[in-house]
Amino acid sequence: MTDPLLHPLIAKRRAELQLNLQNISQRGFHKEKFCLMPFVNIILEPNGSVGLCRHKGTEHSLGNLKQNTWQEIWNGPEAQRWRQEFLSGEPVTCKKEIKDQHCNLCPELGKMMLPKKQLRESMGTPLRLTANFNGRCNLQCQMCDVWKLPNDFYTEENFWASAREHLFPQLKEIDMLSGEPFIQADTFKLIDEVSLVNPSCKWSITTNAHWKLNQKIIDGLNKIEIKNIILSVDSLDPNIYKKIRYPGNLERVLATIEDLREYETQRGKGRELNMNLNFLVQKDNWHEIPEVIDYCLSRNIHPFITFCYIPSEHSLLTLDIKMREKILRSFLKNLTWGELALSHRILNPLISSLAKIDQSNYLLELNSIKENYEKNDEIKATT
Ligand SMILES: C[S@@+](CC[C@H](N)C(=O)[O-])C[C@H]1O[C@@H](n2cnc3c(N)ncnc32)[C@H](O)[C@@H]1O
Ligand code: SF4
Ligand code: SF4
Repeated sequence: MTDPLLHPLIAKRRAELQLNLQNISQRGFHKEKFCLMPFVNIILEPNGSVGLCRHKGTEHSLGNLKQNTWQEIWNGPEAQRWRQEFLSGEPVTCKKEIKDQHCNLCPELGKMMLPKKQLRESMGTPLRLTANFNGRCNLQCQMCDVWKLPNDFYTEENFWASAREHLFPQLKEIDMLSGEPFIQADTFKLIDEVSLVNPSCKWSITTNAHWKLNQKIIDGLNKIEIKNIILSVDSLDPNIYKKIRYPGNLERVLATIEDLREYETQRGKGRELNMNLNFLVQKDNWHEIPEVIDYCLSRNIHPFITFCYIPSEHSLLTLDIKMREKILRSFLKNLTWGELALSHRILNPLISSLAKIDQSNYLLELNSIKENYEKNDEIKATT
């Protein structure tokens, strides 16, 4: 396999990351202490709960539409406190996420960066909506509880009427989640409504791709600007896939991905789908990382290797220490530097879970793999 770090998709993402880092420091913030997300994004959950970031998880609620409007929660005391942590450079709420996942540095988020004087505890209308409207799903993944959440909470009264007037016209981005977005009427309703008043809004849609690309879906996608389609595929082995993404059929998903690639060519230049593949590493699938990276890059799909923390029964962190070390050893022995770099969200929590002395040894070892890689790269460049 060719070096993943030399793939144009990865090279582009690394360049964007550098730009994001520059943007953060030019505004006088520290790269390990700032995140734009709570200043621009609101997330609406299937039970009416409102938050500011999907990475904080469904549990991190700042209020509920049963008691307050989304505007009240958006600039409520909890939201202002969270933003203040970033403005003062002392993040508490997101300390762990920043350390382990660096989610604050997401280059895609960085593209929305605002001038410093616009970043305040109390913000104007959200520029980004994470729409997690309904739990309904066609799968019951072992690590997910979203499919158990309610449906049909969002009504004219508690959301649509006020959003139509005050939210949809201002949005720069929509991050569409839900249980499975492509089987839900609310997804197509949102596409119809937003595309009418705000056709330049950019959409990111996270999907299990466990459906057939039919004319209704194509018609919906044709109406919107797509920032990216995030495909959630947690195994390339049909049996493991079915266990994790119960009772899923891997063949169905892989066929849909090929159909989407074909559809992408029909959309034409400048309207690409920018597909990412979200691979959630857990006890059943950690050994598949190289295969997944290879599958993605050979199809021009960006591999996004993420780590399952909860539920703990599926997390590598609840394996005994010998097994965690065995997995780390196996990564260091079998993965190239490029594959290791793309797996940093897995390596960080695994290494942090070890004794201090072992942490130092693994970090030294990783550094030496990196140095060797850089030396070889220099040799390549000179020949
Ligand atoms: C809840 S799903 C909704 C969208 C769609 N049904 C799908 O699977 O892509 C959104 C994302 O959450 C991820 N996810 C599910 N359970 C998770 C967990 N326990 N930890 C981290 N991510 C999780 C999925 O892999 C998916 O990428
Ligand atoms: S640091 Fe991560 S978890 Fe916290 S708000 Fe930013 S993206 Fe969300
Ligand atoms: S497909 Fe998505 S929403 Fe459905 S159960 Fe799996 S992770 Fe959860």
